[in-house]
Amino acid sequence: MIDLSTQYLGLNLKGPIVVSSTPLSETVENIRRMEEAGASAVVLTSLFEEQLALESKALDEDLSRGTESFAESLGYLPDFNDYRMTHESYLGFLHRARSVSGIPILASLNGATSGGWVRYAKDIEEAGADAIELNTYALTTDPAQTSAEIELQLLELVDGVCRAVRVPVAVKLSPSFTSLPHLAARLEEAGARGIVLFNRFYQPDFDIETLEVRPTLHFSTPSELLPRLHWAAILFGHLNIDIAISGGVHSAEDVLKGIMAGASVTMMASALHIHGIEHIGRVLADMNYWLEKHEYTSLSEMRGSLSRRFVPDTSPYDRGNYIKTLSSYSLRQTVAAF
Ligand SMILES: Cc1cc2nc3c(=O)[nH]c(=O)nc-3n(C[C@H](O)[C@H](O)[C@H](O)COP(=O)(O)O)c2cc1C
Repeated sequence: MIDLSTQYLGLNLKGPIVVSSTPLSETVENIRRMEEAGASAVVLTSLFEEQLALESKALDEDLSRGTESFAESLGYLPDFNDYRMTHESYLGFLHRARSVSGIPILASLNGATSGGWVRYAKDIEEAGADAIELNTYALTTDPAQTSAEIELQLLELVDGVCRAVRVPVAVKLSPSFTSLPHLAARLEEAGARGIVLFNRFYQPDFDIETLEVRPTLHFSTPSELLPRLHWAAILFGHLNIDIAISGGVHSAEDVLKGIMAGASVTMMASALHIHGIEHIGRVLADMNYWLEKHEYTSLSEMRGSLSRRFVPDTSPYDRGNYIKTLSSYSLRQTVAAF
């Protein structure tokens, strides 16, 4: 019997597959199915900062005044009905999910500023969340805003949430920070117990006939795993913070690669939307088969084995390899053309 257990955010998990934040976990029935299929934890869908702001009485009153100054907020914030759950229903659902499931339930708070909404982390903790995942998606369009300011804002947010709760906090990060190792170290100092690599952005597409800019959501493909593996492998072993990989995890091979890079857990969303919740069980069976064949007795034996810290040749992780990859490709093409 291979030991698939892992530790993430101080939680003892029976295996490495966690369901990442997705509307699939919006019913208790689905959460049960995820647990039965072998998920070791479930991250609920997000409660959004904007939604909480809208729900706050003060903002509500300001909005109903219909003044000029709030015209912008009215246009920018989606309607109440666009959100999946209200704050109250989110807490109620979290409580129910927690009481019926034998695996940890992580709540997800989605926001970018350290405003008063951070106090909701406390409500989430009281409703029974085993941990909180902070999705810190922020999009900068202001040329006057520096990357240092954005990082400071993020650190203040994480600090505020970590101070408010006792449950562990993980931070779901954007892939586009200039110095991820530095930021990860600062997040650890701010109290985060884990980082999730990475948030996936949903850029709008253009309709060139109607000249409209339209929101799009495509499910991921396994190729999206590569930047996550790369960064997990670079960060592993340097910090006292757990790494979760979210993005492009579809198969047993993807999970194994994630663990070899240094992740404590790998998360799945798109694969479950495409193949169904029971896909988790098939991936675990494939993993067990592979691990037996290669005579592993536990997952922990392989954690970080392909990380930058443990591979004998670190050049594939460095700039030299980037140049080598590009030049060898054009060489091969030239040879094929002749
Ligand atoms: C339909 C859908 C809804 C999602 N909603 C959320 C959300 O509310 N909060 C969040 O942090 N991530 C959300 N995500 C992102 C996923 O949690 C995950 O990070 C991303 O899809 C990459 O993983 P994947 O390649 O396994 O899909 C959503 C993804 C999908 C497909």
